[in-house]
Amino acid sequence: MTDAFKNTPPAPEDKGAMTAENIGAALAGESQASQKYLAFADVADAEGYPNVARLFRAVAYAESMHARNHLSVLGKIGTTTENLKAAWGGETFEIDEMYPAYDAVAKLQENQSAQTSIRYALKAELDHQGIYDSTLKGVEGRNDLDAKPVRVCPICGHTVIGDAPDECPQCGTAAEYFREF
Ligand code: FE2
Ligand code: FE2
Ligand code: FE2
Repeated sequence: MTDAFKNTPPAPEDKGAMTAENIGAALAGESQASQKYLAFADVADAEGYPNVARLFRAVAYAESMHARNHLSVLGKIGTTTENLKAAWGGETFEIDEMYPAYDAVAKLQENQSAQTSIRYALKAELDHQGIYDSTLKGVEGRNDLDAKPVRVCPICGHTVIGDAPDECPQCGTAAEYFREF
């Protein structure tokens, strides 16, 4: 029998400030490409090209692996405790600084769609912040999250553990459409 496949990214290597900047830029680009291809796949499905959709999803996966490898080189993938702290920190930055500032600019510039998109994200980041916080407390005591489903609104990203609300409080989507993880 062959050795089990180990999905190990390149190790962190802190050598060269310019390389770190370049890999950071590549991480942003690959992450965006992956997201773009997933959105393009949904369009291809809707237009009746299921195999084009499949191609976009496959390449999105490849790009997400490129992003993951770049993240690893930058030393940004830690233990689950470290990762939960980093995840909480990212959500908190978005809630406290990024989205309020972006929302103020979108209001000033009267961009209604941007305000909607920002509101959906900001409200969902609050869900994530709270869930990461309680999950971290568990993992610090070496307890896994409990086995209840995590449910996510497919429109706004509202995230709950357990039952979905009858209607999403942010966007009105019915419980039956929530995606279960
Ligand atoms: Fe790529
Ligand atoms: Fe989030
Ligand atoms: Fe929603």
